[in-house]
Formats: sequence, structure tokens, C-alpha cells
Amino acid sequence: MAPITSNQFSEITFVVKHTYKGLKATTQFVGLFFLSLLLSCNNSEDPESPEEGMNPGNEIVGLEGVALTYRNQCGGCHGQDLGSFVEREWTYGNSLEDVMHSITEGYSNNGMPAYGSTLGTQEIEDLTNFILTEIDGKTKAMLEGDNPDLSGLISSDDLSFRVETLTAEIPGIPWGIEQLPNGEILVTERGGRLFLARNDKQLIEVTGVPDVISQGQGGLLDVLIHPDFENNAFVYLSYSRVNPNNSSERTTAVARARLEGNNLVEVENIFTALPYLNSGHHYGSRLVFDSNGYLYVSVGDRGYRDVYPQELDNYLGKIHRIHDDGQIPSDNPFYNTPGAVNSIFTYGTRNPQGMSLHPETGALWEGEHGPQGGDEINILEAGNNNGWPVISYGINYDGTSFTDLTELNGMEQPVYHWTPSIAPCGMTFVSSDFYGNWKNDLFVGSLKFEYLHRLKMNGNEVVGHETLLEGIGRVRDVQMGRDGYLYIVIEGPGRLIRLVPEQ
Ligand code: HEC
Repeated sequence: MAPITSNQFSEITFVVKHTYKGLKATTQFVGLFFLSLLLSCNNSEDPESPEEGMNPGNEIVGLEGVALTYRNQCGGCHGQDLGSFVEREWTYGNSLEDVMHSITEGYSNNGMPAYGSTLGTQEIEDLTNFILTEIDGKTKAMLEGDNPDLSGLISSDDLSFRVETLTAEIPGIPWGIEQLPNGEILVTERGGRLFLARNDKQLIEVTGVPDVISQGQGGLLDVLIHPDFENNAFVYLSYSRVNPNNSSERTTAVARARLEGNNLVEVENIFTALPYLNSGHHYGSRLVFDSNGYLYVSVGDRGYRDVYPQELDNYLGKIHRIHDDGQIPSDNPFYNTPGAVNSIFTYGTRNPQGMSLHPETGALWEGEHGPQGGDEINILEAGNNNGWPVISYGINYDGTSFTDLTELNGMEQPVYHWTPSIAPCGMTFVSSDFYGNWKNDLFVGSLKFEYLHRLKMNGNEVVGHETLLEGIGRVRDVQMGRDGYLYIVIEGPGRLIRLVPEQ
């Protein structure tokens, strides 16, 4: 007999109960009575009194229900296709007990929430069985084969375009991209390598990168070149840096180096977000230069939302503004505030993994991950408090809430927010004329739903949106290239693509 899902089951029960009321002791009643008896026997439970401690059992739990829980609760971090569990070297073991333990207790220092207080033991067991069954026998290569076919013409609301793949060979998880004036593209790989995607489609490793700690969400992160790169060859890298005095602690840092051929030389650390913490997530880490040559560095709250983002005496949960050599501009908003870190530009930020300058206003825009729901796009002005975690449109990953407030005096409102979360990673405005009506629109990558989100803009207002390239894979970075093309880097497998409008 085909398994009956719990939902189907209660619908049948409903019909039985309500028909019973009107029919009394007719032959139909007898028939229904036997039907009901039959169903209850086959499923070894009493359908009319689920509260009497009957264990619904795995066999009648609808796969769709578990798959949905996985999609909403876990897929955003672990991949909708379970990619992070396939061919995994399990840290905490992959027996039923081990996995259930991981889900129940979480590893809060490394970004894995605990679900023990919001999911029941049975739900956790079902999720565990779902994961272990689904990944059984699958390989990464099989998952890659599932990628959508992007070879044809793709149409959006305002434009048709083609996807051109520049390389599909990036090993590991690509994180940041930056185009050089000669058209070649620097690509970071979170594990700690820097590559140059050459115009002949060769991928070359650049040597001399600083040591990074690649664990959790950390590693080698963003890459940016100096506005005067043609003369000084300066490349900036953000990364997770280990505390030289305590190897279990790390933080977000920025190094500057010169690119000589395929080597980085004169590598120098110019920014360190203090304090170092024993935490492996929420590094933030985007880098942007504004038109006056100031360098902005985004730093996440490192998972300590109640400790750092609202206090000015530390670097975490902030956007910083520094000179190109790491010195602090004396016109920074808190430069003269006693006890404040003087590189702070704005504060009250969770995990900002997108930053871009508006092509017309020159303002700095930022995108950040909310907890569950409450992903935000903000316009940043000197001294702003963006409110995290006092105001938020999100709730905790485990479904509990941490604030009732979405607005408060003295705290900025986002320009746009997403609930449910899309897990925004990388963002850019289209500033070139190649893309017709896309001009000045904001393009944001989604890690969670594996697409590109286009926010249609009218000035500073979002007037519409559409999703593009659904199912393409976890999008890590989106950049307007110096050549006017839109570049996107995706994981699983690591690919660098550009969108070529159809004329
Ligand atoms: C916010 C991101 C996030 C969400 C949401 C999340 N996880 Fe995790 N999970 C992680 C991270 C990061 C780790 C690695 C932790 C570590 O290495 O200490 C992890 C580890 C795990 C592990 C242990 C893997 C091992 O190697 O032993 C399991 C099992 C797991 N997660 C299952 C789940 C399930 C099931 C859900 C949904 C109910 C879920 N996770 C939701 C981020 C997340």
C-alpha cells in the first residue's frame, strides 16, 4: 500500500467523523466504520486521538512535509539540493544519533543554530532520515549535472540576454570578484586561494596571498583594486585572520598588496576588526572604494548580536571608512567621540555581504543577511544606526522572536527587506548602458534560493522586482565590470559568468 501522509490521513478522518453525525446506524455508517477500522489497522495508530501519545512513525510522515521543513529551515545554509551534506567529511558524525544531536544542540559558535527548543524530537528524526536518505549514493558531480540549461536566450521583463561562461573550473567556494582594467578578473576562493580568470579563459593562481583561517564562513573573502591600480597595482583582500596571540580566535581583516604578474608582493595588513573571537561566522567583509578614494569595509556581528553592534567601542556589526593605506580619516563621524572606534562609518549591522555605490548619487548601499526573514538593503550615511538587533523584520532561525520592534526613532529603516530571507550575497548596480531598462537597477545574489534578484529602481525607491537565473547555484558575488558587463560568480561548481544582452 502506498504510504499515506499525515495530511491525507486527517482529511479522511474528517470525512469519516462528519458523515457519521448525519448517518446514524445506516448501512453506509457500517461501511464507513469498516473503512475507518481498516485505515487505523494499516497504520497502527488511532486516527481520532493523536494526542494520546501515538507516535506517527516515519512511514506515514509525508516526504513533502519534511522536504518543506528542510527547504525553509536548512536549505539556505546547507544548499537546497543538500549540496553541503553530499560527500561531506562529517565533523560530528553521520549516524542517526550524531546528526540528531547536531540539529538539536547546534554549534552556535560556528553558525549552526540549535533546533531542540522549536522542533520536536520526531521532526528532528524525520529531518535526519530525510537528509541521510536523500544524500545516499549521490555525488557532487551528480548535483552539478542538475544545473539548469543556460545555453539559450533568456528573457527578463525588459531584456533578453545570454549567459557566457568564462570559467567553470574555480575550485572550492568562490567569494569575491574584481575586474582589472585589462578585462581579466580576480576571483577569491574561500579556502584561501586567489585566481586570475584571463581573457583567454585560462584560470591562473595568484601566489602570495596572506594566511587565512578557512573554517565556517571564514577564509579568503572579498577582493578589490585601488582606483589608481594602473599606476600603483594595489590589490585589497578581506579575509579571516587568526589572532597571533591565541590561535582559537579570529576576525575580519584587510590586507593590501601589489600585483606583479601572477604574484602578490609587499603584502601588508591594513585593517583588523577587534575583538578577535572564537566564532566562525558573520564576518561581513565586502570592500568598496567611493569616488573620493575612501575605502569601506563591512564587518558582521560575528554572531554576538547582543554584545557588539549597538556599542561604538568595538569594530563588529559596523561599516568602516578608512584611507587606502589603512589610516583613519579625521572627518569620520565618531572620530572625536571618546571611547569610540574612529574608523566606524555606520553601526547596528548584522552580516553585510553586499556593498555597492549608487551610480548616480554616489551613495553607499549595503545588503545584509537577516536572521530568519529580515534581510535588508540600506543606504548608509555617516553616523547612521541601522538598528540591529533592536529593530528587525526577522525572527530567530529556530522560530522564536528576539524583538517586537521594526522601527524606532534614531534608527534607520531599510530601503527594502525580504521575508522569507533570500540570503543576499553580493550586490551591484547596473551602471553601464548595455542593458537598456536595467540601468540603475540593483542586482542581488541569493545564496538560499540560488538566483539573481533584480530590484527595479526609481531613484532610491524599489518599484518592482524579478528573479533571474533560477536554480543557477548559490550566488556569491555580482559585479558591474569596468567593461560594462554584469559578472556573477556561483558555487557548485565554481563558475564565473557574464550576462550578454541580445541586441
Ligand atoms: C544559519 C546557517 C545554518 C542553518 C539555518 C542550518 N545550519 Fe546546519 N550547520 C551550519 C554550519 C555553519 C555548520 C557547521 C558547524 C561546525 O562545523 O561546527 C552546520 C552543521 C550541521 C550539521 C553537522 C554536520 C557535521 O559535519 O557533522 C548538521 C547535521 C546540520 N548542520 C544540520 C542542519 C539542519 C537539519 C538544519 C535545518 C533544521 C540546519 N543544519 C540549519 C549552518 C546552518
